[in-house]
Amino acid sequence: MCGIVGYVGKRPVLPVLLEGLRRLEYRGYDSAGVVFFDKGRLRVLKRKGRVYDLEEDIYRNSTLEPKAPGLGHTRWATHGEPNEINAHPHFDCKTTLAIVHNGIIENFYELKKELIIKGHKFISDTDTEVIAHLIEEYVKEGLNLFQAFLTALRKLKGAFAVAMITTMDPEKIYVARFQSPVVVGLGEGENFLASDIPALLPFTKKVVFLEDGEVAILSQEEVKYFDFHGRELKKTPQIITWDLASAEKGGFSHFMLKEIYEQPSALQQTLLGRLDLEKGKIDFSREGLTQEFFSGIKRIFLVACGTSYHACLVGKYLLERVIDIPIEVDLASEFRYRNPRLDNGSLFIALSQSGETADTLASLRLAKEKGARTLAICNVLGSTITRESHIVLYTQAGPEISVASTKAFTTQVLMFILLSLYLQEIYQREEPKELIKMLPRLPGLLNKVIEKLHPKIKECAKNWYGASNFLYLGRNILYPIALEGALKLKEISYIHAEGYAAGEMKHGPIALIDENFPTVILSAKELGIVHEKTLSNAEEIRARRGPIILFTTEGERKFEDKVNYIFYIPETSYAFLPILYVVPLQLLAFEIAYLKGCDIDKPRNLAKSVTVE
Ligand code: G6P
Repeated sequence: MCGIVGYVGKRPVLPVLLEGLRRLEYRGYDSAGVVFFDKGRLRVLKRKGRVYDLEEDIYRNSTLEPKAPGLGHTRWATHGEPNEINAHPHFDCKTTLAIVHNGIIENFYELKKELIIKGHKFISDTDTEVIAHLIEEYVKEGLNLFQAFLTALRKLKGAFAVAMITTMDPEKIYVARFQSPVVVGLGEGENFLASDIPALLPFTKKVVFLEDGEVAILSQEEVKYFDFHGRELKKTPQIITWDLASAEKGGFSHFMLKEIYEQPSALQQTLLGRLDLEKGKIDFSREGLTQEFFSGIKRIFLVACGTSYHACLVGKYLLERVIDIPIEVDLASEFRYRNPRLDNGSLFIALSQSGETADTLASLRLAKEKGARTLAICNVLGSTITRESHIVLYTQAGPEISVASTKAFTTQVLMFILLSLYLQEIYQREEPKELIKMLPRLPGLLNKVIEKLHPKIKECAKNWYGASNFLYLGRNILYPIALEGALKLKEISYIHAEGYAAGEMKHGPIALIDENFPTVILSAKELGIVHEKTLSNAEEIRARRGPIILFTTEGERKFEDKVNYIFYIPETSYAFLPILYVVPLQLLAFEIAYLKGCDIDKPRNLAKSVTVE
C-alpha cells in the first residue's frame, strides 16, 4: 500500500502535494517523493524517510521554480528495499515521463526482461519503473501518448493506481485504476487526484471515484474519463460529508475497524503473483524460494510473539497435514532461553508483522548461529528480521496502525496456506489443484461473512459487554483461533478472557462456569470427528447454566435453541477455517470494547512493536 497525490491548477504545486502526502502517510512511510515542472522540465525530489524529511529538503532548495501539474508519492515498499533510488516517482530512459504507482505489478519481471532486451535502462529494483519504460516503448513504436498509456495499462497484470505527468503533454495528468484506489477531486480551474479522500479534503469535497479499468485525464479546466480501450465514460461527482479525522480512517470510527474490513483486500494482495492457476501451483520464485531450500530439512521451528505466535500454531496444523517433518512451535521469549536442537538440518520460520520484535529477532539470530536455514514471514519490507533471514515471504497487508493486530494475522495464516500447498507439491509430488482453484474466492467469502455477521455481533456485544470474564474454546485448527479471540478481547476491552483447547475444559476451566461467565465456542463440520466432541463440550457448559456464544457451520441447526447466540459460517475448506472464524471474533472484541468506551486503537500499556525484552 502506498499513497499517491496529483495536482493541476494555479496554486503553488508543492504545498498542495505535501499537504496531500502528509494525509496519506498512514498508507506508507518508508520514503516519499514529488515530481513537478521546473522551467519546462520534469524535476524530481525524493528521499528515504518520512514526508517531513522530504519537506525539509524542498524548503532548503531555493533554486526551484515549481509549476503544476505535479505528483507526489509516499511509499510502503513491496519490491526493492526502502531507499532513495526505489522511492517514487520513476522515469523512462529520457526522463520525459514520470510515474507514481500504488499496488503490485505481477508480471513486471517478464516485462522488464523484454524491455531490457529492447535497450531500456532500469535504475531501481521496483516493479513500478517498468510502467514508465513500457509507455516510452509504445511511443517509440509510433503510438500517440494516449494510446501508449492505454496499451501499457492493458499489458499490466496485478493491482495498480498509476499516475503520470510528461513533457509530451505538459498540461495534464494521466491516471488509471485497477484494484488500487484513485479518487479525483474537482475544483474551479484546478483538479486533484489521490489514493484516498483525506488528501483532497483541504481543497475540495467534490469527488469522483475511479472504478477498476478506468482512466482519467486531468487538466486545469476539466477531467475526462475513459475505459482502458479509450472509450469515453460519463462519471457523476459526489460530495463528501466526512470530516478529516473520519476520512483518515476511511469513514470508519477506528483504525481497528477499518483494518478488520480491509482484510478481504489484504488477502487478495497477498495472493497476487503467487497463484499459478493454470499449472495449479504456488509460485514463490520471485522470493527466491526453491525446492533445494528444503532439501535435508529434518525439523521445523515456528517462532513468534503475540498474535503472530497464534498464526504459528495455525501453521503447524496446516503444515503437518502435508509433510512428515516434525514441527515445533514456540513463543520467541521461551525459545531463545531453552536449548532447542538446532543444526543445519533445521528450518527456522520467524513470523512477525513488524519485523522488529526483540525476542523474535534474538531467536532468529540464535537459529542462524546454530546453522539453521531461516525464513521470515513478515509485513514490513526492509525490517531487521527480513534483512537477517535467508528467505522472506511478505504478507501484503499494508500498514497496520491499530495496536491490536487483525489483517496482519489473517495474511500470515494465508501465507501458511500457500506454504503448505507449496510443500505438498514438493513432498507428496501431488498438485493441490482443488484448493488452489478455491483460493481466489476466499476474499469474497470473507467479505460475505463480515457483512452478514457484523450486525448480529453488535447485538450480541450489547448483551455481554458487562461480563467480567470470557472463555473461548476450540479444537484442532480452531484452537489457536480461540486463543486469538481471547487475546483480542483482553487487549482492547480489558475483560479477562482465556482461550482453551475445548478438550482441556474439564481439566480446570469448567470450575469457573456459571450464569455470568460466557463461553465462546468455535466448531466446524470440516473438523470431522472433533466437531461433535466440541459440541458435547457445549452441552456440558449448558448443563452448568453457562451462557454460550456459538460459531459453527451453516446448517448446524440442532443447537439453535440451546445457546444464547449462534453465528453461522459457510461450509468451506478446512484450510480457510481460521480466517473465516477469527474475523467475527475480532468484530466481537471491537464491539464490546466500543461499548465499554475503551481507547481501542491504542489500548493501555500495549505497544504495536515490542523492540525490548
Ligand atoms: C505486540 C503487538 C501485537 C503483536 C506482537 C508481535 O505485542 O501489540 O499485536 O502480535 O507484538 O509483533 P510482531 O510485529 O512480531 O508480529
